[in-house]
Amino acid sequence: MAPEDQNTTLPIVRTVEDLSTIVADWRSGDARVGFVPTMGALHEGHLSLVDHAAGSADKVVVSIFVNPAQFAPGEDLDAYPRTEKTDAAALATRPADLIYAPNAREMYPDGYDLGVEVGGPSQGLETDFRPHFFRGVATVVTKLFLQVKPDIAVFGEKDYQQLLVVRKLTRDLGLPIEILAGATHREWDGLALSSRNAYLSEEERARAAQLYAALNDVAHRLADGEPIDKARDAGWQVLKGAGFKPIDYLEVRDADTLAPLTSLEGEVRILGAARMGTTRLIDNIALGI
Ligand code: PAJ
Repeated sequence: MAPEDQNTTLPIVRTVEDLSTIVADWRSGDARVGFVPTMGALHEGHLSLVDHAAGSADKVVVSIFVNPAQFAPGEDLDAYPRTEKTDAAALATRPADLIYAPNAREMYPDGYDLGVEVGGPSQGLETDFRPHFFRGVATVVTKLFLQVKPDIAVFGEKDYQQLLVVRKLTRDLGLPIEILAGATHREWDGLALSSRNAYLSEEERARAAQLYAALNDVAHRLADGEPIDKARDAGWQVLKGAGFKPIDYLEVRDADTLAPLTSLEGEVRILGAARMGTTRLIDNIALGI
């Protein structure tokens, strides 16, 4: 797109009614609708998903909604960064066409009482530490899908388990939406971009990239033929040495099902989650042997 064709402002809608009017209008012109759900505090990782969506769709909706249902009491719902103005300005420089930023009432009206539970890939890993999480994600993503009615939706590999959960819910509900995966955007030292990186002190930020280093250490060891348990233990020591505490998990899993592996077969994913100070970081990489 030529710079003069880029948006300088983007329409923001806050109700399902306004959203539906615009999307219905696009559809009547045969536009293919792409969708990127987010919780805002947008960074280059989110924005790359917008570019990705625009590669497969004529119009792109980006939602910004900090979803209370995926935060447990005591988690960072209140502290979660809310930067709508800057987000809107960033999106105006990318191929986005509409921001959908509902308030909590629009999404969960009084008396709201429905939850979407996905089995399979939602079990284990994140669920062992945030048992409420995927029910909250699956519920809001299902609602957003029904509201936006996209043809395609893009999710980041950064949250790999979430990507599999969304794929599963889409398939199990028979929703006619194609789920695309966007590669993880990283800082120069490998730290995956995350809205939560803003919580890190300068000193913690310097050590945080060791999560990516630990994942790569496990990958190199596996590629060299080390047994899974040994490689995993070595990666755990990298995290410990960097000061991550507690280390929630560092696992070598089947990339399609997230089932634990005793030998390297098929596509393999290495996933980790650990706390640096008060900030919980998660990351994952594919094992490319
Ligand atoms: P949020 O954390 O805002 O992330 C929105 C999307 O951006 C997710 O698909 C996530 O995987 C992707 N993303 C985050 N960091 C990325 C990075 N460094 N590189 C590439 N993509 C990245 O994930 C959520 O919001 C919520 O759970 C949501 C799906 C919106 C439901 O509330």
